Amino acid sequence: MSQDTFPFARRCPYDIPDEYRRLQQAGAVEQVDVAHGGKAWILTSFEDVRFALHDTSMSMDRTHPNYPSPLPIPPAFRTNASLLGMDPPEHTNYRGMVKAEFTLRRVRAMTPRIEELVDEHIDRFLDRADRTGDVMEDLALPLTLAVIGELLAIPPEDLPTLHHNTRRMFDRAVTQDERVAAITFLEEYFKDFVASKFVAESDDMISRIIARNPGRTVTEMIHLTRLLLNGGHDSTASMIGLGLVVLLGDRDTFLALPTDPRLLDSAVEELLRLLSVTDLATPRVAAEDVTIGGERIRRGDGVYPSTAAANRDPAVFPDPDRFDPRRQDTDRHVAFGFGRHLCLGADLARVELRLVFGKLAERAPALALTVPEGEIPYMDGGFVYRAAKVPVRW
Ligand code: HEM
Repeated sequence: MSQDTFPFARRCPYDIPDEYRRLQQAGAVEQVDVAHGGKAWILTSFEDVRFALHDTSMSMDRTHPNYPSPLPIPPAFRTNASLLGMDPPEHTNYRGMVKAEFTLRRVRAMTPRIEELVDEHIDRFLDRADRTGDVMEDLALPLTLAVIGELLAIPPEDLPTLHHNTRRMFDRAVTQDERVAAITFLEEYFKDFVASKFVAESDDMISRIIARNPGRTVTEMIHLTRLLLNGGHDSTASMIGLGLVVLLGDRDTFLALPTDPRLLDSAVEELLRLLSVTDLATPRVAAEDVTIGGERIRRGDGVYPSTAAANRDPAVFPDPDRFDPRRQDTDRHVAFGFGRHLCLGADLARVELRLVFGKLAERAPALALTVPEGEIPYMDGGFVYRAAKVPVRW
């Protein structure tokens, strides 16, 4: 039985927590204490995790007292009004109304504009006189915010404040009062923002969704816009920062990216698998009694399918701790979840990551970390694992 509480600490920033590995090696499904109260069953095998992410026996009900949130979100702010709190049939209907905005066709149509934004941000980054910078603050965050901000038609000058409050909402280190203040700020901001979309016609994502789906409420649109803003920048920014650290440690791969599009695609998939930055984003509650990994899980029990552990399951990914962009089926990972709630922004994130890594390797082949990898400060954020800073020179 585990002595650790969930979320488990990482001994090494690039490795999954020891507890995941112990459970995986023992082929065990165990119930552990959750830091903010209650218990959760931890799932670590690829098969069990995929089952739990997709099966209707698992609910997303965030208001359930046993929902194993990695953060102490105050009850008044726990809501099922966003896609990530809904179950079928409500979720199916709601996802249906958003899906059209994220089809591969639409993402392809957005790509030239995303490429312009990537170019502009890389130009600005590499233009620095001292040829040094922090990939997170100077490139990854401004770029990913600009992309999602433009899709949602959020005024660019508002983005830094929105990002600041989003960070505080998900920060484990803030006080509950600070968290409530950040959530309240975001709710107020998006109340006005969304209300304006109901009255003025315009060709942005939220306006199109409202126009195509008469009868949607302001509250629904507030939660959707917030989810798209959060999902749309933080995880992709984290992947840019951490992904680059891994790539700079494998210079042959890094230098080959601009001229080998297949390698670029598979390197991005392999980084998504290896880093699994949204490992803490997939809590569930059992909606009925169910047996997983030989354990009887009761209706109402908290369940935690770990995408990071599943993505290191040696039965599926041989030598799973190694970055190997040439391994078979690099896209078999569950870094974007699986099944019903599969990330809607996955193709958009892939486009951003391919463009950033490919262009950085082309334009700054001498790019290197300015501190040893072991000195990079990491943050186990609320839902997203990330480097606080990635200092580089070129
Ligand atoms: C590398 C970047 C990203 C990663 C690793 C990631 C990861 C995930 C994961 C694991 C889920 C499933 C959560 C669950 O099953 O509980 C998810 C859902 C979602 N993601 Fe992402 N995401 C990324 C980028 C994006 C972007 C760019 C957007 C939007 C612009 C986005 C929007 C969403 C939405 C709307 C959902 C909810 C889907 C649903 O419930 O039906 N994500 N994401």
